[in-house]
Parts: sequence; structure tokens; C-alpha cells
Amino acid sequence: MKILVTGGTGYIGSHTTLALLEAGYEVVVLDNLCNSSEAALHAVEAICAKSALLIRGDVCDRALLDRIFQEHAIDAVLHFAGLKAVGESVRKPLEYYQANVCGSITLCQAMAAAGVFRLVFSSSATVYGAPEHMPIREDFPTGTPTNPYGQSKLIIENVLHDLCAAQPRWSVALLRYFNPVGAHASGLMGEDPRGIPNNLVPYISQVAVGSLNELSIFGDDYPTVDGTGVRDYIHVVDLADGHLKALQTISGGSGINVWNLGTGDGYSVRQVVHAFEQASGRPVPYRVEPRRAGDIAECWADPSKAEQELGWTATRNLQEMMADTWRWQSSHPKGYLE
Ligand code: NAD
Ligand code: UD1
Repeated sequence: MKILVTGGTGYIGSHTTLALLEAGYEVVVLDNLCNSSEAALHAVEAICAKSALLIRGDVCDRALLDRIFQEHAIDAVLHFAGLKAVGESVRKPLEYYQANVCGSITLCQAMAAAGVFRLVFSSSATVYGAPEHMPIREDFPTGTPTNPYGQSKLIIENVLHDLCAAQPRWSVALLRYFNPVGAHASGLMGEDPRGIPNNLVPYISQVAVGSLNELSIFGDDYPTVDGTGVRDYIHVVDLADGHLKALQTISGGSGINVWNLGTGDGYSVRQVVHAFEQASGRPVPYRVEPRRAGDIAECWADPSKAEQELGWTATRNLQEMMADTWRWQSSHPKGYLE
């Protein structure tokens, strides 16, 4: 089977491309490289001795998409391409709606024209807003995202629900990721954020490697185990495996399905810092700062629907997530540039 992976040179897309190649799929990657490097696919090739075909281009480019579907017998699409920085989305809403919403709609139009109706979409736990209870199940109501990034994910989910209701030939998976972290165990691939990281684990690892001075902990007065925010961190290799399971499952059916991809365990910022210090043997100096606008106290998944319906569970624990992050970061202090 041949799979189109949009955003396949990015963090999650590259790990999933590796998993697809290892499982025997052929992979065509479409990426405009606005937040990634071709080097990610060189690492994929070094690990599995197979390669994906990279097409540089924009997911909003309908003519390019039509050409790709004409030239390749694509069976399904895994759609990772998009912009993901929450703060930037507040400053540049049009760019976010264009890349995320228009990109997804253009992709679906091109898929339909080519007779391809299987789609796995990268959604986010952000669509739940601030739920009253934990753990979060897929049937919890979606919330009101506080930023254009979150809005764009919810809009795309709604578009895909409407599309599947109107045209039953579609078979769509909405995968709501919790907090993806970690790196491939080889140390050859990992997260390579441009500029100063927004997310906790890349920030911690850049402090540990000496690229940044200290971590700011955003608030220690939440009603949580130690006052700091609690999240469900999931290893990116487990996440990639979840995509393969979702792809296999939707290939035999039709309609739309929502699955949480998380571990079901929540860890506080302080617990993550401690685990990282243990894994790296390096201190992670920090300072407590006020809460970050838009953050919720805690967020973790009930992953049992994915376990029952996909036969998938996350198997890597927090120590492995931190050890793999450190292996990648310490051998590539400047990301794929080194
Ligand atoms: P990433 O930025 O590493 O990967 C996204 C890729 O898409 C990049 O390679 C980028 O160059 C490419 N891209 C962006 N706009 C494009 C466009 N218009 N045309 C073609 N390519 C384009 O991000 P990631 O962490 O791998 O995330 C992948 C997906 O998962 C995104 O949709 C993101 O919103 C979603 N997601 C990520 C997280 C997370 O914490 N990383 C959490 C929930 C959901
Ligand atoms: C963030 C986004 C979310 C997005 C997800 C994945 C916000 C408000 N939410 O989730 O929409 O889907 O990333 O891209 O940006 N923290 C610190 N110091 C830091 C960074 C983070 O203390 O330097 C804390 C946060 O307050 C939070 C936890 O660490 O409690 C995790 O933060 P982060 O990694 O940014 O993920 P989320 O906020 O869960």
C-alpha cells in the first residue's frame, strides 16, 4: 500500500514515516519544510534502509496535490502538515487558518477527485478545552479553544464530521494526541524546534544541554499533586504506532472515528523535570513564574477506546521518554544541523 504523509519531515510525521516503511508500506511525503528539515528523512533511511519519496510543496497547492494523486496510486493519507505554535497562532491567525483549515479542505477536495477516501488526521487534546473531570474520554464535549491553533483543529474536526455524514465513502480517523515527547531510541531522530521551544520537554532538554539557562515553571499554585501543571506525555514512537493501528482499522470500514492517543497517566512539571535529571544526569535549574495564559491545571486521557478498537496501547514510560529525548538532544545539540 502507498501512503501519502503530509508533514512527513516534521517531528511526528517523520517518526510515523519510519514506522510505515518498517511495516512495509510505500511512503510519499509532501512537506514545504517550513518547520522541518529534509535531514529527518535521511535519518529514517539510515535507520530502516528504506526511503520515502519527498515532494517539496504546500498542502494548499491543489494543482500539486492533483499531480501527486495522478502519479502515485495513493491508498490513504496521513495528514500531519500544519502550523502548531499556540502563541504564534494568536499573532498570525490568518496564516494558521490558511495552513490548517484551508490546507485540510484542499487536501480533502483533491483526495475526493482522485477517489481516495481514507484519512488519518492529527488532532489534539486541546479540542476538549478545560474538562471538569479526568481522565478525558472521547465522548466528552469539545470545549472552546482559546487560540486560533486550537480553533483550527476543532474546525477541521467539524468539517470532517460533516464530510463523512454527507459522503459515507469516507473513512476518517481523528486522532487526539495528548503531549507527544521523546525520540527514536537510535538517537538519530527527534524533535527539532525552530527558535526557543514553546513546549516543556524540548525546553528542559535544551536547558540540560546548555543551550538555554533555566526553565520557567509556569505556575506552582494549581490544584495538583505539587502545584504544577499535569499532562499526559506520550512517547512519539508509541504515537507513530497508533497511526499504523488507526490506518489498518479505518482501511476496513467507513465513517468517522475519534481516538485519544495518550498513556492514561498524568505527570506534573516537577515530576518531568526530576525524571529528565535522572535520565540525563544533568541538573535542570528552574524558576517558578506566573501561570501561562490559556493553560489548564491538568489533562490526561482515558485511552481505553483506542485499546479496545485499535488494539493499541502506549508501552513506553516516562523514564524512556526522557532517556530517548536526552540521547537525541545530547548527540544533536543543534538538532539536525549537527
Ligand atoms: P511539525 O511542525 O514538526 O510538523 C509539521 C510539518 O508540516 C512540518 O514538517 C512542516 O514543515 C509541515 N508543514 C506545515 N505547513 C505546511 C503546509 N502548508 N504544506 C506542507 N507542509 C507543511 O509538528 P508535529 O509536532 O510533527 O505535529 C504534526 C501534527 O500534529 C500537526 O498537525 C500538529 O498540529 C499536530 N499535533 C502536534 C502536537 C505536538 O505536541 N507536537 C500535539 C497535538 C497535535
Ligand atoms: C501545548 C498547547 C496545546 C498544544 C500542545 C502541543 C498551550 C497553552 N497549549 O499544550 O494547545 O496542543 O502544546 O503542541 O500552549 N510548561 C512550563 N514551562 C515551559 C513550558 C511548559 O512550566 O517552559 C508547563 C505548562 O504550563 C504545562 C506543561 O508544562 O503545565 C506542558 O506544557 P506544553 O509542553 O507547552 O504543553 P501543553 O500546554 O499541554
